Amino acid sequence: MNQIYSSIPRLILGRTSTVFRKQSVRSLETGPKGTYIAKHIPAFVQLEEGKKYSWCKCGLSKKQPFCDGAHKTTDMKPLRFRAEATKKVLLCQCKQTNNQPYCDFTHVSVMFQTAGKRVGKMFGK
Ligand code: FES
Repeated sequence: MNQIYSSIPRLILGRTSTVFRKQSVRSLETGPKGTYIAKHIPAFVQLEEGKKYSWCKCGLSKKQPFCDGAHKTTDMKPLRFRAEATKKVLLCQCKQTNNQPYCDFTHVSVMFQTAGKRVGKMFGK
């Protein structure tokens, strides 16, 4: 459905409008582990018992927290795992967790580090 709406400006204008292009622009911030921070918060996801999943490790996927093949430009590979039970879990999207693929709340310290860097830049440090 979204693809239909996103193609309307292309049909009218003959190209993608700036507004739609801005939506796809992401900041490519790296965390302490050197991987890209997809988002600073985890994703609350329903996993199905026995089903295999590919968790994005590089942070470049647009289907967060799962892999879309974007890692091919890096030397990283997604973490493949099988869900042990049908349940809702928090999957890491900051990619700095020590309990991959699950969130261990490392994103809180990452948020503070990122905020500190931004304030430092504001004051020229
Ligand atoms: S989102 Fe990465 S540790 Fe929570």
